[in-house]
Amino acid sequence: MTKTFPKNFLWGAATSAPQTEGHSLLNGKSASTWDYWFEIAPEKFNENQGPKDTSNVYEMYRQDCQRMQDIGLNSLRTSISWTRLLPDGKNLNQEAVKFYRDYFTCMLDHGVKPIINLFHFDMPMWLMQKGGWESRKAVDAFAFYAKTAFEQFGDLVKMWTTFNEPMVHVECGYLYQFHYPAIVDFKKAVQVGYHTLMAHVCAVKAFRQTITDGQIGIILNISPAYARSDSPQDLAAKQAADLLNTQSFLDPAVKGEIPQELIDLVKLHELTPQVLPEDKALIKAYTVDFIGLNYYQPRRVKAPSQPLTPAKMPENLYEPYDWPEKKINPYRGWEIYPQAIYDVAIMMKEQYNNIPWYVSENGMGVADEERFLNADGMIEDDYRIEFMQDHLEYLYKGIQAGSNCFGYHSWTFVDCWSWLNGYRNRYGFYRVDLDNNFERSIKKSGLWFKEVAHNNGF
Ligand code: BG6
Repeated sequence: MTKTFPKNFLWGAATSAPQTEGHSLLNGKSASTWDYWFEIAPEKFNENQGPKDTSNVYEMYRQDCQRMQDIGLNSLRTSISWTRLLPDGKNLNQEAVKFYRDYFTCMLDHGVKPIINLFHFDMPMWLMQKGGWESRKAVDAFAFYAKTAFEQFGDLVKMWTTFNEPMVHVECGYLYQFHYPAIVDFKKAVQVGYHTLMAHVCAVKAFRQTITDGQIGIILNISPAYARSDSPQDLAAKQAADLLNTQSFLDPAVKGEIPQELIDLVKLHELTPQVLPEDKALIKAYTVDFIGLNYYQPRRVKAPSQPLTPAKMPENLYEPYDWPEKKINPYRGWEIYPQAIYDVAIMMKEQYNNIPWYVSENGMGVADEERFLNADGMIEDDYRIEFMQDHLEYLYKGIQAGSNCFGYHSWTFVDCWSWLNGYRNRYGFYRVDLDNNFERSIKKSGLWFKEVAHNNGF
């Protein structure tokens, strides 16, 4: 039986400025924390691959827009680089304005709806030197940047998002050391998360004051927690994991409230952040129009083997559980569990007022894909096709059950640079040849996706 998706369903892909543009210290752009970190510690990055020359979209966007159209994408999410648009946080870089206007216009000319995100882990270095998200100053700086972007591009872009996966810069920067400043401090992590939330809220406020004919949302990573057992201890671990990782942003973004259980949990563990008296009303007033959810893997949890109050790390509240039956993507080390997409769809329907949402990232990173080159020079990535099809099956089921999902974006369009992992794992519909001027070539999954988009299903 054919599975037909809703009318006007978005079939597309997601990516980000720092991972694709290249020219990271050219054309007026100032350094982000990634440029700085690579400069001082290149050995941390896979094969010394830094942020400088990522995939060269800065020069190749016109051909890339044609490639989007060639494989039937009707939408693409990418981000604006804060440090390119406002290199010092205040003054517009006119070359950046021209670049983004041309890029977004070109997408529109090729039938591709731009969904534009404002922050994808790329904190300006000048702001990091003032404390980054630890400082309330970052909230105002971000709101100014957001307003500037809405003013400059609001005529072209009708769908905006404030942050990509805000929990990721919180945990990677302040707990697990995968992002600069790579410190380990639970209390600071909570403060950074809170300021990020307020930056999001203030950007939504700026949006409501600037744009009348568009929509704004936020992109969250979703790894729904599954407890090892129904024991009260394991269930408490699941609840803590969901509160900290999912409800922390999803509840205020959609319902305008931080859950009381989360407020109590951080208080119990002496992690309460500094807040301003007006924040509660701002959170209530500035909720979103839609949600993007990036889904890659579930979170299996069990009761902590070293519970601690106050907790020093999230592992004192919940611990990863190694589910013996799991299927794994060995390159990325992530569990493959498509069924979770159905659970997420039902969660959005039942717990989040059935707000419009879309799968804003889903995909499979694989290393050394040249192994799968066929005689015609095309990568036959059947594993990726299977991965996406399996997830789409469960998404379809969720939509049939009434969940208000309006699109599916794969990660990603052309192979891109991935933070400390450099170019190790590839995700694209198009291969990027690093030895040959970033030349792109279609993979089998790109042709498959074209069919799916064309048929609005499979
Ligand atoms: C998402 C991010 O978490 O996953 C992307 O939004 C990232 O920036 C993608 O590249 C894939 O993960 P990774 O770490 O394998 O690149």
